[in-house]
Amino acid sequence: MLAVSVSLFLAALPSLAVPDLALRKQTSVVESFPNITSCVSQPSFFSCENTTVIENTCCSPTPGGLVLQTQFWSTYTGLEKKGQLLPKGSWTIHGLWPDNCDGSFESYCDLSRQYDPVPSPATLEDGTVVPPYDGPGVDTFVKAFGRDDLVEFMDKYWINQGAPNVDFWAHEFSKHATCTSTFDVACYGPSYKEHEDVVNFFDAVIRAFKHYPTFDLLAAAGIVPSNTTSYSLEQIQQVLVSQTGALPFLGCTNHTILSEIWYFSHVYGTEQYGTYKPINTTTTSTCFSNESIWYYERTPSSEREVRKTWLY
Ligand SMILES: *[C@@H]1O[C@H](CO)[C@@H](O)[C@H](O)[C@H]1NC(C)=O
Ligand SMILES: *[C@@H]1O[C@H](CO)[C@@H](O)[C@H](O)[C@H]1NC(C)=O
Ligand SMILES: *[C@@H]1O[C@H](CO)[C@@H](O)[C@H](O)[C@H]1NC(C)=O
Ligand SMILES: *[C@@H]1O[C@H](CO)[C@@H](O)[C@H](O)[C@H]1NC(C)=O
Ligand SMILES: *[C@@H]1O[C@H](CO)[C@@H](O)[C@H](O)[C@H]1NC(C)=O
Ligand SMILES: *[C@@H]1O[C@H](CO)[C@@H](O)[C@H](O)[C@H]1NC(C)=O
Repeated sequence: MLAVSVSLFLAALPSLAVPDLALRKQTSVVESFPNITSCVSQPSFFSCENTTVIENTCCSPTPGGLVLQTQFWSTYTGLEKKGQLLPKGSWTIHGLWPDNCDGSFESYCDLSRQYDPVPSPATLEDGTVVPPYDGPGVDTFVKAFGRDDLVEFMDKYWINQGAPNVDFWAHEFSKHATCTSTFDVACYGPSYKEHEDVVNFFDAVIRAFKHYPTFDLLAAAGIVPSNTTSYSLEQIQQVLVSQTGALPFLGCTNHTILSEIWYFSHVYGTEQYGTYKPINTTTTSTCFSNESIWYYERTPSSEREVRKTWLY
């Protein structure tokens, strides 16, 4: 059976190698969300780098054009007994945030897409109360689209502390994606299927996360978790600048325990398919530059092997 499918695949190769324009014209355009066909005629530039008014906000994140891919380094989850473990050899996903170009940001911009069981903040600056959600978990939205693979990946790399992972995913979507213009429901056209924006956002978060394999970037320079050796902030920063082209934000608990990283970028095109350009952090590190920084090893029983196929 395997031999048959391999030979079928090989037989198909010659026609792929020679572009057949007539055949291509017949092929229907792949549906993309947002609709890239309608973005082609729009002016293009990196977000936050041009004052031209963006007419089609589905095509470029506006006003949240300063995009942050954020990650955590934690040593435990608090839900180990329920099997909620951290991925060995990897930092974990926090989210993908749409800061405004000046560094300010909005939260919970569309309460019709409020899936967060524990809204934080629970009250917005204008006094709006964000109602807690108690419906089905967002994992069921993803599975309804047949994307069990996506839920499986998220369960490995997008880990909550003290509460189930699914609550955290919902929080990130409702707090941040609803404020990111390229995930607006209107961007999904007349054939919008409920929750496809949620699936699309989770895919986009993972795509961005894979650009920044923090654990490997540091490990390749000899910066590995250790409970006996500490590092200087400058040492850590230098490695990251040399590999990403910009200075990320580093967060420390109590100013000396490394726990967070935020990679800043401007985006050319949409957040889901566009190109990310690294930008220096607009926020000063909370890690002290005059003290030793601890990048702690995890409790062995808090992590598990997951990297069978990704990156290696
Ligand atoms: C995408 O946009 C183009 C150009 O505006 C339009 O012709 C096409 O019908 C749209 N596709 C979908 C799936 O909405
Ligand atoms: C802004 O973008 C427009 C359209 O692409 C371009 O003509 C213009 O030169 C850009 N301005 C700056 C300051 O980059
Ligand atoms: C970004 O940060 C690096 C490292 O601190 C610095 O060398 C560089 O000049 C900064 N780039 C910009 C555009 O500010
Ligand atoms: C941070 O400092 C506080 C106050 O000294 C202490 O209670 C807490 O355990 C420290 N946190 C960590 C992770 O060490
Ligand atoms: C390092 O600097 C911070 C303020 O920036 C200060 O609070 C702390 O005491 C300093 N640590 C040492 C060891 O000098
Ligand atoms: C390393 O130290 C952290 C913080 O104290 C602790 O939680 C963890 O269990 C330690 N890991 C190992 C392997 O000793």
